[in-house]
Amino acid sequence: MCGIIGYLGNRDAYPIIINGLKKLEYRGYDSSGVSIFHKDGYNLYKTKGRVYELEKKINRSNIQLKGTTGIGHTRWATHGVADDINAHPHISNSNNLVMIHNGIVDNYNSIKIILLNNGFTLRSNTDTEVLVNLVEYIKNENKFSLEEAIRCSLTEVVGAYSIAIVDRDDPDSMIIAKLGSPIAIGIGDGEFFVASDPISFIQYTKNVIYLEDGEMAILNKYKDLDLRKIINNYKLNPVINKLKIDLKEIEKGKYKYFMLKEIYEQPQTILNTLRGRLLVSSKVIYIDGIESNKEKFINTKCITIVACGTSWHASLIGEYLLEKLARIPVEVEYASEFRYRDPIINKNNIIIVISQSGETADTISALKLAKSKGAFVFGICNVVGSTISRSVDAGVYTHAGPEIGVASTKAFTAQITMLILLALKIGKYKSIINDNIYNKLCEELGSIPEKISTALKVHDSIKKISKIFHSMNNFLYLGRGINFPVALEGALKLKEISYIHAEGFPAAEMKHGPIALIDQKIVVVVIAPLNESYPKIVGNIQEIKARNGKIIAIINENDVEVNMLADHVIKVPNISEELSPLVTVIPLQLLAYQMAYIRGENIDKPRNLAKSVTVE
Ligand code: M6R
Repeated sequence: MCGIIGYLGNRDAYPIIINGLKKLEYRGYDSSGVSIFHKDGYNLYKTKGRVYELEKKINRSNIQLKGTTGIGHTRWATHGVADDINAHPHISNSNNLVMIHNGIVDNYNSIKIILLNNGFTLRSNTDTEVLVNLVEYIKNENKFSLEEAIRCSLTEVVGAYSIAIVDRDDPDSMIIAKLGSPIAIGIGDGEFFVASDPISFIQYTKNVIYLEDGEMAILNKYKDLDLRKIINNYKLNPVINKLKIDLKEIEKGKYKYFMLKEIYEQPQTILNTLRGRLLVSSKVIYIDGIESNKEKFINTKCITIVACGTSWHASLIGEYLLEKLARIPVEVEYASEFRYRDPIINKNNIIIVISQSGETADTISALKLAKSKGAFVFGICNVVGSTISRSVDAGVYTHAGPEIGVASTKAFTAQITMLILLALKIGKYKSIINDNIYNKLCEELGSIPEKISTALKVHDSIKKISKIFHSMNNFLYLGRGINFPVALEGALKLKEISYIHAEGFPAAEMKHGPIALIDQKIVVVVIAPLNESYPKIVGNIQEIKARNGKIIAIINENDVEVNMLADHVIKVPNISEELSPLVTVIPLQLLAYQMAYIRGENIDKPRNLAKSVTVE
């Protein structure tokens, strides 16, 4: 994880670096640091804690950070605890080379031994300090230029990295390189911006080059960008992409937290996912990445969906939808497990990878494995230009806009919307889906933004319920069928941001074990829309009541029975079962938000987490 940023040009680098770091904090926020270069050397500040604490430390020092080259880092600790010493940037033993790094050097221990045997000393416990000293060692031993030393060092590295290095003797240049972890270059007029995520520099330029794995770029204020392959120094032609993000999309606006803003954006983000893909009046679904691969989707014998976290929950909903509407057997895999258990994949398989960020290391590794076995890999991603979106054979963007809150919300509903479109489209291609059902679901899909707006109106009742339950320590979330993954998602949201223990179960599984937990100290959130399994879920609620569990039920507007049985009810609009997760998840997102809010937690930056998990 970690966020890295760099600037090289004619402006004052410090404000660009510090403001960029604030936008990258979603990637890690346990320590941060900056280094600004000038003709007499550089100033380096780093500290444990958030970027605002770094800013305070710099302000207290009364030193003006002047210089037109700078690098900065916000960390999510992998090697070494979060403290001032382990924070980046890291410097080489001569103090000449300064490096920031996102990723993990897996073989850092063996490199460390070589360095120690050759008289190097290491101040921190990080793999990054090992790497910057390896560069120095190779540079001095071989009388190499910095560029040659970096190239040679990186061929020794096992692991993942995106790095930026500046030599104090040449502050007009910066070298960056990538393997696994993302890095992009913003091209300005006589200036370069470098960052893990271009949202940190979009107010300056929208022209972006994404480095690919195994590439390095030599940046110099007075020269054109020089892009090379690390392995053989082969010169490459950079491809410049135009970013379409608006600055407003990455600001909180009237909301206290990004998470709340993103929850409230959902009527609009779903419209964006549907735009150009669903014509409600004529019931036509058009999905670019599918049209061109129609035969593959018609003929496939099975689909495997691979993802992590919230995207994995969306995948489970996708399994239900694709099996029901398109009659294709689907398996859903945790990306982190998939590649380590020798999965059976062949070239007739379709693997769908789902990822908000498009940068999740586990998902990227699973994707690479699937491709190496010849499978056709289809991506569902939110972040345009991300590694996954650039690596798949075909795919679609969910167009939910930048999601900054660490707890994923709008990306989840956008993924589900995309999966509904996909299942309907394939079902139609295969002439498997009944016309009436297809037409009804298309019609209802068009009304989803309005239904979500209605579901958002439950916020006030959720505030009241949260006041009652915010000090409880254990929650169970129960759902059935397509709403079981919604129960998992509700539990994940609660534990991520309010640190309350929460688990999701299929409601009927309760009697096979979890029911032992029920007493008056547990809160059970039951998702109980009116559908085929409703009578069964009423039975499950009776079982909880009989054991004094407190029940919060998510029900439909015209519900009678659960309305009477539950301690608290939250009503959401009626909708067909296939689309119901899009509305039932809304109160669960609000409940998690509200509980964390009352408990005074930092909702957008929960402890130990980061938005993009770019380490395996
Ligand atoms: O960017 P991705 O969708 O690949 O991320 C996957 C998970 O890391 C992510 O969903 C995580 O579980 C979120 N924090 C959930 O809120």
